Amino acid sequence: MNTRESQQMCNFALRMKFQRIALFISGKGSNARNIMRYFQNHPDISVSLVLSTVENTEMHQLCLERGIAFEQSGTFDSETYLSICRTHQIDWVILAGFLKKIPAAFVGAYPNRVINIHPALLPNFGGKGMYGAHVHKAVAEARMPFSGISIHFVNEEFDKGKLLAQFAVALPHLASAERIEQEVRYLEIKHFPTVIEQVIRTTVTE
Ligand code: GAR
Repeated sequence: MNTRESQQMCNFALRMKFQRIALFISGKGSNARNIMRYFQNHPDISVSLVLSTVENTEMHQLCLERGIAFEQSGTFDSETYLSICRTHQIDWVILAGFLKKIPAAFVGAYPNRVINIHPALLPNFGGKGMYGAHVHKAVAEARMPFSGISIHFVNEEFDKGKLLAQFAVALPHLASAERIEQEVRYLEIKHFPTVIEQVIRTTVTE
């Protein structure tokens, strides 16, 4: 066997099993759209399912165009959600603006396989009721000189799972909630897909 052939054998042996992602959303889905774009044509990872707690005709249409399954389910019943995920052979669940609490039964079925993004620097400005605009309003009211994003594994408690990555941004003096949201959204779009990719690659090839 020559060097090139042995290198090819090595690459083949190291290749990870194909990983299928589900995106859970409750909002407009700008993060979900960005993640879908990032993993389009990816050799090892695909977005295979989008599950929305609310009606989202635009996202449904986009999924139809891209050949991605779309489901809508308002109440988080673990059995229903798990059955949907099993049907689509989901390996990873990404919460991309998902506002329901994830029950222990679901976390137990996907240990260290559920990843959330929070639009502030945890452990501050997290917990029940802290989502979307509420978070930016609280950061503005506290006159924080910086904010950022936290990407973490999900456990049974709101925003308490192991941190995977954080990115910070300096804020202008007395920044409004709208301005903070703008800065934070930029970080989400820039970093969330690459962190997801890194976590999956590291876990699967370990
Ligand atoms: C995002 O900013 C995300 O970080 C936040 O909701 C927004 C969803 O926007 N998530 C949370 O607050 C979770 N606690 P999108 O639907 O346009 O992606």
